[in-house]
Amino acid sequence: MTDAPLRTDWTDTLARGAAPDPAALRAHLRAVHRDHAGFTESCAMRCRDAAGRTSYAWLAEAVEPDAHRVLLDVACGSGPLLQLCHETLPAELRLIGVDMSPDELALVRGRLPHGRAELVEAQAQRLDFLADGSVDVALCHWALTLMDPVAPVLDELARVLAPGGRFAALVDGPMAAAPGYAEVHDLIYGHVQAELPAYGEVDLGDPRVRSADGLATLVRAAFPGAVVRVETGVVTMSGPAETLAPEAAGFFYAAFVLSPTARLRMLADLAALLTHTSPAGTPSFAMPINRLVVDLPAAGERRALRPWRLGKGFC
Ligand SMILES: C[S@@+](CC[C@H](N)C(=O)[O-])C[C@H]1O[C@@H](n2cnc3c(N)ncnc32)[C@H](O)[C@@H]1O
Repeated sequence: MTDAPLRTDWTDTLARGAAPDPAALRAHLRAVHRDHAGFTESCAMRCRDAAGRTSYAWLAEAVEPDAHRVLLDVACGSGPLLQLCHETLPAELRLIGVDMSPDELALVRGRLPHGRAELVEAQAQRLDFLADGSVDVALCHWALTLMDPVAPVLDELARVLAPGGRFAALVDGPMAAAPGYAEVHDLIYGHVQAELPAYGEVDLGDPRVRSADGLATLVRAAFPGAVVRVETGVVTMSGPAETLAPEAAGFFYAAFVLSPTARLRMLADLAALLTHTSPAGTPSFAMPINRLVVDLPAAGERRALRPWRLGKGFC
């Protein structure tokens, strides 16, 4: 077995101290998803919020079964959200999934009844296969933060959504919302930075999406007149530290660039941290999440955009 770390144009450019371009980012993401297809689902499905929901279920609540007829899952990955929509929403709801990873799309094909969802291998920046105003609700689970450039993605969603349509996305939430999250983040990035010092200073995707203000500016530009809501939540999972550590590490793309040996060292340190931070009970990991919901004005309606604010409620 080789002990080679994952190295791509993206990591090589980073190692030279330069900023990787969008083509290098896409190739890097495709390489991670080729080697670890389905990894997001395997960790995210284990996590629950205080109401017992997965982040997929929380996002799917943005669908209005009586009003929405066509649903687009942007960056659908291995298809857990499409499967949830298939199982819990009306059979008449047309499901469309798009992702740029052929390895992830292959997993979707294996889990849904033949023909239930239309699956397209494409970049979210170019949804040419969809007509203007042809989608009622677009969902995006844990992928917007990876996209660069991200403005064309939002512009494309604004184009394909019908008047009165809805865009909802699940993205990383503020670190401070989840106890212990910052320590896990710093531990993993510490290991990665021992090999690639600039990883973290430069990260995947457009950095503006990682801050509420930056995301607000992008959303306002792409969806004029829309009502925007951001809610913060926390999902947690628990279990023996040795199994919890790789599951928690699965939330961090940075962990995938470590060599197998370096990864084992990181996982041992992470298991020790998770044990140390839960001395009285079963080790647990908490992940901060934000749900963004954008409601487009109905035809002929022009809503004033209200001020953006993080936290519960409309803003
Ligand atoms: C963290 S995974 C999330 C997958 C799935 N939504 C889930 O939550 O299980 C990110 C997904 O985004 C896809 N992706 C990233 N950038 C993309 C882009 N620009 N266009 C299309 N897909 C993209 C990747 O191929 C990957 O499947």
